[in-house]
Amino acid sequence: MKNDLALKLHEIVHSGVKTPFYYYDTSLLERTLHAARASSDQYGFVLHYALKANSNESLLPLIRQWISGADCVSGNEVQFAFNNGFPSEGIVFAGVGKQDDEIDLALNLDIACFNCESAEEIEVIQQRAARLGRKARIALRINPGVDAKTHHYITTGLEENKFGINLWELESILDLVNSCDHIELKGLHFHIGSQITSLQPYKSLCLRINEVTTWFENRNIRLEHLNAGGGLGINYQHPDEEPIPDFNTFFSLFHRFLRLRSGQKLHFELGRSLIGQCGSLISKVLYVKKGLHTNFVILDAGMTELIRPALYQSFHKIENISSNGANLIPYDVVGPICESSDCFGKAVFLPETKRGDIIAIRSAGAYGEVMASRYNLRNLVRSVI
Ligand code: LLP
Repeated sequence: MKNDLALKLHEIVHSGVKTPFYYYDTSLLERTLHAARASSDQYGFVLHYALKANSNESLLPLIRQWISGADCVSGNEVQFAFNNGFPSEGIVFAGVGKQDDEIDLALNLDIACFNCESAEEIEVIQQRAARLGRKARIALRINPGVDAKTHHYITTGLEENKFGINLWELESILDLVNSCDHIELKGLHFHIGSQITSLQPYKSLCLRINEVTTWFENRNIRLEHLNAGGGLGINYQHPDEEPIPDFNTFFSLFHRFLRLRSGQKLHFELGRSLIGQCGSLISKVLYVKKGLHTNFVILDAGMTELIRPALYQSFHKIENISSNGANLIPYDVVGPICESSDCFGKAVFLPETKRGDIIAIRSAGAYGEVMASRYNLRNLVRSVI
């Protein structure tokens, strides 16, 4: 971690802010948003912010300055995005299990698009829209059968996953859409997974999208937009070396391999790549305890504040920002929760660590605070900006 940031974090803790808390570096966030916009603007691509990655209300005004679209996956997210200034015409609503009242809410707000995931969902949206006297704009979320080569819990683009409409269903889905007078088909939606660090799956996705759009073109269907989802990964190992993902390479790949028809727009829904690196979970060492084969550093933060290591065995860089001793010792860094999976890292090399030291768990801006819980009746984690 850069020295000035470490100093700032010490100041925050010494001013009385109780650990654990999330700290967000808004200057890095702004530089990241700027980089994403500068790259995507070159090609006229449209960006949506995937609210599920982090919906901290203090960050949304800054995000909205750069990105006016919002990707939502629940009625509450749709309402929250709208209340926080994302205009209806930028809001898209995805998810395999949209409830009737969530659909009504989105219809009443006249959002840009429902990303539909099944035949039955399309039928329900048709019924709800007819009842409310509205027309629903939809995109079909297609399961492209592309392997994102990421953790299997965050892979979404394979037939075995619950997401999207399979290619072999397209003919019957299209007949259904044509029979629905309160539905307008506007586009296609794809999302193959998250924390994707190789561009190869995205190239395969582009080629698959070209095939699918040709299929529609052959049936004289004009699609206003294509949405390639999100998923661009971040560098968890070296957050300081690569604080901002390589948006140029990412967007230029789509420009190169995805064939857009005239007037057709390409949309993206980015979460982690925009917000991941700007957040750290800040915690204090409660105890250092000798184990049989290892020493445990026991933090006041646990899986209730950041569940990713327990749930996906994910790596987050862990730093002791109170000590810069050169002699590194391996520790198992764990939380206080009554679960063995409440472990942030095994054999983490840290300088000699003692009670009261401040620990930063890096790259926790995405899917950190939003996935926090009150398990063990703990207080919900705070945040500082
Ligand atoms: N669009 C759709 C339809 C999605 O399902 C997601 C994420 C995104 C966009 C944004 O993906 P991103 O750019 O953030 O990768 N909790 C997991 C990640 C779950 C991702 C869910 N969907 C984690 O902590 O790694």
